[in-house]
Amino acid sequence: MASYDVIVIGSGPGGYVSAIRCAQLGLKTACVEGRDTLGGTCLNVGCIPSKALLHASHQLHEAQHNFAKMGLIADEPKVDWARMQGYKTEVIDGNTKGIEFLFKKNKIEWLKGWGSIPTAGQVKIGDDIHKAKYIIIASGSKPSSLPGIEIDEKTVVTSTGALALDKIPSKMVVIGAGVIGLELGSVYARLGAEVEVIEFLDDITPGMDGEVQKTFLRILKKQGLKFTMGAAVQSVVVKKGKATVSYIKRKKDTTHEVDADVVLVATGRRPNVDGLGLDALGVTLTARGQIQTDAHYATSVPGVYAIGDAITGPMLAHKAEDEGMAVAEILAGQAGHVNYDVIPGVIYTHPEVATVGKTEEQLKEAGRAYKTGKFSFMGNGRAKANFASDGFVKILADAETDRILGAHIIGPMAGDLIHEVCVAMEFGAAAEDLARTCHAHPTYSEAVREAALDCGNGAIHS
Ligand code: NAI
Repeated sequence: MASYDVIVIGSGPGGYVSAIRCAQLGLKTACVEGRDTLGGTCLNVGCIPSKALLHASHQLHEAQHNFAKMGLIADEPKVDWARMQGYKTEVIDGNTKGIEFLFKKNKIEWLKGWGSIPTAGQVKIGDDIHKAKYIIIASGSKPSSLPGIEIDEKTVVTSTGALALDKIPSKMVVIGAGVIGLELGSVYARLGAEVEVIEFLDDITPGMDGEVQKTFLRILKKQGLKFTMGAAVQSVVVKKGKATVSYIKRKKDTTHEVDADVVLVATGRRPNVDGLGLDALGVTLTARGQIQTDAHYATSVPGVYAIGDAITGPMLAHKAEDEGMAVAEILAGQAGHVNYDVIPGVIYTHPEVATVGKTEEQLKEAGRAYKTGKFSFMGNGRAKANFASDGFVKILADAETDRILGAHIIGPMAGDLIHEVCVAMEFGAAAEDLARTCHAHPTYSEAVREAALDCGNGAIHS
């Protein structure tokens, strides 16, 4: 029986980051992982492999649409799907091995197998019991399907199956116009599939700034994705490897059917808490099955903590990472803290979509007086040169104090640009602070500055 200060259950971005920070702060740390490789969903079947396919398929799009415009004459590019999958696997391997290296470097023990918690202070893996003063549950989430839909990961797939299809489908139906549906739908649309997205609500990407939603939808349609909105999927029937999706148009209450080679079910994820023994242990869950924690990530059982997708809040790798670091600091006697008001969200389509802080809709609902600074990438020289002028930056600032309340970007490198605003918000900056910061020319980031200028006396290039 081995004994540790901390055992982290799960080695995804929440778990492995937490383990590293615990070790850095002098705690004897182990991390339990049952997969053959470290890194959890994100590195193995989520963020990282999807970004590899998004990158490869975007390069194809560039070759098909923009090479000739720049005087680059090449043969018609072809997709070698097996090689693209091989590239994806190499990217995964490089990343998961990187975590293994970091574990060794920080003297973190990888306890291989699936862990459960028979009692506070103990983690059971197979027949072995390991002791720890503190246990951190970082068990992540898993896809949640719909009733009437059976996932086989071949014809009816979650994001996991969608990343490893045998071949590029001729027709793909995506259920759910959220982050996963739009990222992976984009990949297959660019690779030549006919992609139809069926969404329950009237807008894509629920909760996002309305103006961004509209622009995003227009751009995706221009890229060839088809959308059926306000439609509730009822069932998917598979016969001889082909699927028929039936849905009800909510306003008219009419039933429709559509056939597909592959159906991607992207209707959300749920906490992965099965098998941990939480019931018997007496850990309180929320009505939505998340582990209930206090502000210090402590569960209802002393000595047992939880972070990431398994608890409340947005299911985002970077939110889990931040909680992982914060809980490590708390356990080491420091003041760990996560600022939930400044957690960016990014959709890695092309163009990218990035958002932080409040949306206009939220500010209106709260009755808050605000001003809007907006700048189109049409006025950005770098974006024009790179055929990337679709989209805009929008900054929302307090009408009186000018303090930045939110930012919403759709455009090139939006996922990187947003962090300038995140840092500004962490420092409680005013839009004028961003506007008065010299930005190198020519960069995409000038569009952020221009939006900030537009909160004051006006942007220069619009
Ligand atoms: P989501 O919650 O983002 O979107 C699910 C969509 O499915 C919603 O628009 C919902 O209205 C729709 N839907 C639900 N039931 C339906 C029905 N019966 N018929 C038609 N549409 C229906 O969930 P998603 O895309 O599966 O992502 C899961 C989680 O993973 C999210 O929390 C997301 O933030 C996270 N994620 C984040 C990524 C990123 O940060 N880039 C990438 C991938 C996932």
